[in-house]
Amino acid sequence: MSNAPPASEGEWRPLRSPYARLVTDPIRTTQALLDPERVLFLSPSTRAILDLCDGSRTTHEIISSLKKQHPNAPIERDVPPALASLHAKGALAYSPLAPVAVVTEQERDGARGDDLRPPLAMTAELTFRCPLRCGYCSNPTDLGAFADELSVEDWLKVLDEAADAGVLQCSFSGGEPLLFDGLEQLIARARARGMYTNLITSAHGLTEERLDALVRAGIEHVQISVQHADPRRADALSGVSAQRSLHEHKLWAARAVVARSVALSINVVLHRETIESVGALIDLAESVGAVRLELASVQSHGWALANRAALLPTRAQGEAASRVAKAAKARIGAKMRVVYVVPDYYADRPKPCMDGWGRKFITVAPDGRVLPCPGAHALPMRFDRVLEGATIEELWRTSEPFNAFRGTAWMPEPCASCDERDRDFGGCRCQAFALTGSANNTDPTCSKSPHHAVVTSAREEAERAAPLIQLRRYHRDRG
Ligand code: SF4
Ligand code: FES
Repeated sequence: MSNAPPASEGEWRPLRSPYARLVTDPIRTTQALLDPERVLFLSPSTRAILDLCDGSRTTHEIISSLKKQHPNAPIERDVPPALASLHAKGALAYSPLAPVAVVTEQERDGARGDDLRPPLAMTAELTFRCPLRCGYCSNPTDLGAFADELSVEDWLKVLDEAADAGVLQCSFSGGEPLLFDGLEQLIARARARGMYTNLITSAHGLTEERLDALVRAGIEHVQISVQHADPRRADALSGVSAQRSLHEHKLWAARAVVARSVALSINVVLHRETIESVGALIDLAESVGAVRLELASVQSHGWALANRAALLPTRAQGEAASRVAKAAKARIGAKMRVVYVVPDYYADRPKPCMDGWGRKFITVAPDGRVLPCPGAHALPMRFDRVLEGATIEELWRTSEPFNAFRGTAWMPEPCASCDERDRDFGGCRCQAFALTGSANNTDPTCSKSPHHAVVTSAREEAERAAPLIQLRRYHRDRG
C-alpha cells in the first residue's frame, strides 16, 4: 500500500486495503469493514463508497456513479472527506488526510459506557503451553490449573456460539497457538462464520508447510512477537536456546507471511531493556512489510508482576520512546499503523482497559473459562465455562462476572463522581487487584486514587538500578 499523496484529485483510484474485508453484520444489522484486529462500522453511504473503491475508478468517477444513484444527495461534498477518512485509517491505498467521517460503533449508537452491545472481538486462548520463557509474560503462573484444554470439537462449538453472539474479530492466541493441533480447522470455521481471523504467535516452529496450511485455512492476519531489535538480545530475552537464532527465524516468518499476501503485525512488549530501541524496532517492522506495529507497554500481570522492578522503564526512557513513536507515526502515516500507548505508570490517568469491562471483548481461556479480559483469571471471581449450559451470548449478557464492573454503578469514589469515568471506565480491574488487593478499587495508576502511592513508589524504584529480568520458569508443554 503506497502512502504517496495523489498528484491530483482526478487521478486517484482509491483501492480498498487488500487486508480489509467488507461484511454485512447480521447481528447488529449494519455494515462493517474488518481488518487486522479492528472493526469499523460504516454508515450506508460510506459502505456505498467503499463498494466502488476497487482501484478502477477515480474519485470523480466514484462521485458520478453515486450521483446517478442518489441525485439529491450532497455527494460532491461528502465523498472526498469520507475517502480521506478511510485512508487515514489505513483502509484505502490512496487519499489525502482529512477529518474522520467513518461511523464507529459508539458514534453510531450515541452509546454511553453503560449500554450493552454484542461482543465485538474474542481472544481464543487455545493453550498456555509455550516454548518461550519471556520475563514479561502476563499469562498465569499456575499453569497446572489450566492443564485441561478444550478439544477441537469444543472450540468449533465455541466459535459458532461466538459468531451467534456477534463476534466479528477472532484472535487465536496462547501461550503458543501453533502448538494446538487442529488450529487450521478452527481458523476455517471462524472464517466460514464471517469472523476476521488473527493469529498471535511467536512464530516458533512455524514452517513453510504450516504457513501454507494456515493460509489455505483462511488466516487473514498474523501478529508476530519480536523481543528486541538486536538479534542477540532478542534471543536472550526469549529464553530459547537453539542452533538457529529464533530472532532470525521470526524475520524469515514475517517476510513469508507478507509474501503470501496475509496482513502482518509486529508486536513488541516495551520494557526497560527494549524501550530504547523503539526507533530500530520501527525500522525492523517497516523492513519486513508490516501493516501494523504494536508497541505494547509491559503490563504488571502474571510472571511480569514478579519482574516489575526489572521491567519498568524510567520516566526518561518512556518520554524518549513517545517522541520517537510520534515522529514515526507522522512520517509513516497510514502505510503502517503504529500503536503506542504511554506506560500506565507514567500517565496520570489509566487506560480504558479493554475499552471497558464487558463492553467489547471476550476471552476464552484454554480450559473454557469465559473472561472479560485475558488477565481476569487472576481475580478472585468464579468464571463460567463454555459448553456447560449457558451460551456465550447468555454469559456475555447475564453472567455475574461480566456484569460486575460494567457501567458506572459499581464504581467507588473518586471514580463515582468523576467526570472522566465514561472515558477510562475506572481503569484496569486486574491492575487494581494486583496493586491494591481489590478489583473494586480505582486503578491506582490514576493520580486521584487513594492508592496512587504504590505507583509513585514503583516509579521511584525504576529510577534506581534495576535487577536482572528473571526468565519465566514455567515453560514447555504443560509447564
Ligand atoms: Fe478515571 Fe476514576 Fe481516575 Fe476519574 S478517578 S480519572 S474515573 S480512574
Ligand atoms: Fe483485566 Fe485490565 S487486564 S481489566
